[in-house]
Amino acid sequence: MINKKIEEILNAQINKEFYSAYLYLAMSAYFDEIGLKGFSNWTKIQAREEVDHGMILFDYLIARNGNVDLKHIEAPDCDMQNPLQVFEKIYAHEKTVTESIESVAGMTESECDLATRNFIDWYIAEQVEEEANVLDIIKKLKMFGEEKSILYHIDIELAKREYKHHNYSC
Ligand code: FEO
Repeated sequence: MINKKIEEILNAQINKEFYSAYLYLAMSAYFDEIGLKGFSNWTKIQAREEVDHGMILFDYLIARNGNVDLKHIEAPDCDMQNPLQVFEKIYAHEKTVTESIESVAGMTESECDLATRNFIDWYIAEQVEEEANVLDIIKKLKMFGEEKSILYHIDIELAKREYKHHNYSC
């Protein structure tokens, strides 16, 4: 049976991952609306990955004989103004998720839950990758500003992203 404090923080993390999926879906809809299909694809795939992140936590809790406690998911922030502003919003959001994952890791250490400590390492690495990917896109958007032909090429590049399913295996 998993420690109650760990169970609680993992349930809170499930909620954050599903909120992230909502946020990326709202962004995908925005990009679709303004005709940036590649940006829409990128954020929609990210939404699917966030669902995977939530489901991996869900399956882990069940594997540890914990209780899954699903809370309501907040409506996403829908203030979208342009691609750079949206990607800066993504970066800020992912930094809060990284802090949240680090809090989970910290608690596994203070509670001596080595199994969850080991489990959460995958999320720590995933956050490094996510932040780096988003920063890369922000740098390009900043470098080329509102140059429409460059935006078009970035859109083509982001259209190439493919979904890779992640799941929990113990
Ligand atoms: Fe599940 Fe974007 O972190």
